[in-house]
Amino acid sequence: MASSSCILSVPSLAMAMAFITLVYAANFYQDVDITWGNDHAKILNNGQLLTLSLDKSSGSGFQSKNEYLFGKFDVQLKLIPGDSAGTVTAFYLSSQGSTHDEIDFEFLGNLSGDPYIVHTNVFTQGKGNREQQFYLWFDPTKDFRTYSILWNPRIVIFYVDGRPIRVFKNIESIGVPYPKNQPMRIYSSLWNADDWATRGGRVKTDWSKAPFTAAFSEFNANACVWSSGVSSCPSRSNNSWLSQELDSTSLAMLRMVQKNYMVYNYCSDLKRFPQGLPPECSTNT
Ligand SMILES: *[C@@H]1O[C@H](CO)[C@@H](O)[C@H](O)[C@H]1NC(C)=O
Ligand SMILES: *[C@@H]1O[C@H](CO)[C@@H](O)[C@H](O)[C@H]1NC(C)=O
Repeated sequence: MASSSCILSVPSLAMAMAFITLVYAANFYQDVDITWGNDHAKILNNGQLLTLSLDKSSGSGFQSKNEYLFGKFDVQLKLIPGDSAGTVTAFYLSSQGSTHDEIDFEFLGNLSGDPYIVHTNVFTQGKGNREQQFYLWFDPTKDFRTYSILWNPRIVIFYVDGRPIRVFKNIESIGVPYPKNQPMRIYSSLWNADDWATRGGRVKTDWSKAPFTAAFSEFNANACVWSSGVSSCPSRSNNSWLSQELDSTSLAMLRMVQKNYMVYNYCSDLKRFPQGLPPECSTNT
């Protein structure tokens, strides 16, 4: 009798474990691989938290296990506190190869008390040079804040705490390549870039403050997963991002952020483009 009840309990345990796996779908153990600086990257709290650190010997990084073709990607991030000058923490989507597409968030550290810069860029068919930079309206080192990329066939929207800060529209009709054929992975890394990051490289990393640590949580890819040439999207009830455009409320928020917090915009840099601004500058607010 004892042995038969034992046999019965085996499948029910297996079922309980499958259920747990579904409930905790957003889990760094399941969603990402640590790809750089092994011992400098740690997954903690049963997969709910991931930390990247940087010292003189190495930085660190991770990438999503899945490749995606369109999606809404969110992560909560608490940046390096105190003196983070010279460091860059990045969270971005990228495909591979010389004609790759890429959608970037990079957080440029600063001296204690001086503001971080959020540096963004969009590469299509291997060509970038589309930098826009922003200050934040909060201290990104104090709490976890949400940074998101929405990517669908018509528009890319960068969000900070739910507010749009930048858009890149599909204007293939006037000859600007748009990222829509190459699946991308999420990548994140923390590295030393004191040759350019802080005040254009004038402020160097203070290694006596190392290790520098950034923390990630709540990674969520509500996205179409690419596998063997096929893209599988979430059910219709939960993929409103797939057809999302910039409504008037979002456009007003975008304008407000750009008016008050934008530090650099390639579309205003006439010196850099003496032959004329890139064509997307006329449509991307
Ligand atoms: C760092 O702080 C200085 C002084 O406020 C500021 O000019 C600069 O834009 C800040 N950010 C970076 C990344 O240099
Ligand atoms: C639906 O999408 C939202 C926003 O991306 C996400 O937070 C939520 O977990 C998703 N729900 C389901 C059931 O997948």
